[in-house]
Amino acid sequence: MGSLFLLSLLLLLVADNPGGGSPRGRNSEERVQGSSPPTPSGTSAPFWIGISPELVAVPPGSSVWLNCSNNCPLPEGSRLYTQLQRGKTLSGPGWVYYQLLNVRAWSSDVYCSVTCAGKTLTATARINTYKRPHSVVLEPPVLEGNEYTLRCHVTHVFPVGLLVVTLRSGDKVIYSESLERYTDLHLANVTLTHVLRARPCNLWQPVTCHARLSLDGLVVRSNSAPVMLTPGEVPL
Ligand SMILES: *[C@@H]1O[C@H](CO)[C@@H](O)[C@H](O)[C@H]1NC(C)=O
Ligand SMILES: *[C@@H]1O[C@H](CO)[C@@H](O)[C@H](O)[C@H]1NC(C)=O
Repeated sequence: MGSLFLLSLLLLLVADNPGGGSPRGRNSEERVQGSSPPTPSGTSAPFWIGISPELVAVPPGSSVWLNCSNNCPLPEGSRLYTQLQRGKTLSGPGWVYYQLLNVRAWSSDVYCSVTCAGKTLTATARINTYKRPHSVVLEPPVLEGNEYTLRCHVTHVFPVGLLVVTLRSGDKVIYSESLERYTDLHLANVTLTHVLRARPCNLWQPVTCHARLSLDGLVVRSNSAPVMLTPGEVPL
């Protein structure tokens, strides 16, 4: 009991000197406490704050709801820091539900902060956007000499930096390329060209092109229709 009393006294002392600075700066210190598991309710439970979901990926133009919750019996203030357009706000005991509209930025961090007995905690959520390819098209292979040229078009995809394009022959990976060096933040068309030596084992195999967007906690896949590698006019 004595130590609990001391703790609340310390909290009151801290309350007299609420830290300044940006929510971003505070967040780095307080994240550990903010994300610690909630203790059973009771006035003596340490103050915690949470945001849900912490990470979400949505198509551009979507709206997103974030639930900022805390265990403060008498919160003095609850704020959301974001550059995104705000929509509705709903609230209940221990939570505030914020709507964000027309999310188009590739990646946005949103901060929710709550002040309880003078102590302020901040929780962070990250909202990413993506656009599934409009189409994945593998051109009919062109045989020249003893090489096939395979060309795969991935259209209207975003973000290209999180895209991996893979060519498969049957179940076998022929070629795979990660486009992480492309940091452009616009919808883009991507054409992948690969030259394949014509070998008997490749013939009459269906070849497909696979586009995979790897977002945090979400994988979006699109495949082309298969094309056949045929011997053409050149005997092997
Ligand atoms: C927000 O989260 C709290 C705590 O998990 C929950 O009780 C509440 O129902 C949630 N609100 C909404 C609108 O989902
Ligand atoms: C991407 O490809 C589509 C369809 O082929 C075309 O209509 C569009 O103009 C292209 N966009 C860019 C940015 O090249």
